[in-house]
Amino acid sequence: MAVERTFSIIKPDAVAKGAIGSVISKLESGGLRVVASRMVQLTEKQAREFYAVHKERPFYDSLVAFVTEGPVVVQVLEGPDAIAKNREIMGATNPEEAAPGTIRAELGTNIERNAVHGSDAPETAATEIAFFFPAAELATLS
Ligand code: RTP
Ligand code: MG
Repeated sequence: MAVERTFSIIKPDAVAKGAIGSVISKLESGGLRVVASRMVQLTEKQAREFYAVHKERPFYDSLVAFVTEGPVVVQVLEGPDAIAKNREIMGATNPEEAAPGTIRAELGTNIERNAVHGSDAPETAATEIAFFFPAAELATLS
């Protein structure tokens, strides 16, 4: 298994309910390690750019409003098969369809307010990490 890095957001709903620790605990228990982390209030411009892939979708404006409604934690995770592992720990987009024990099953409210974001492929992981973190801010773990 290749060691990878992926990008993760703890979304405003999870931050507001005091679940930052619960999210990170699940990620770490699954073998992922945090190599960069910052709390940030996304601007509308940042959110529109970050989620530009969805700009033609009917939920785009609502998604942008949601992710800018309060602070989020942006972070970079590292570990074996980190991209797929993170999405496995997150669970399905819709919390009602997410496997028991996953972050979204436990902390998500609906298909939009679903607690976390995770990159879906190596290319998007690289782009999303660079969107928030200069290379010099990524820790090297021993
Ligand atoms: P994410 O990008 O946040 O990790 O989530 P994902 O890959 O599981 O889902 P994606 O299809 O990329 O959708 C991005 C985010 O948009 C919101 N969404 N709302 N109302 C809706 O039908 C709908 N569908 C998606 C969710 O917040 C989803 O995570
Ligand atoms: Mg996605």
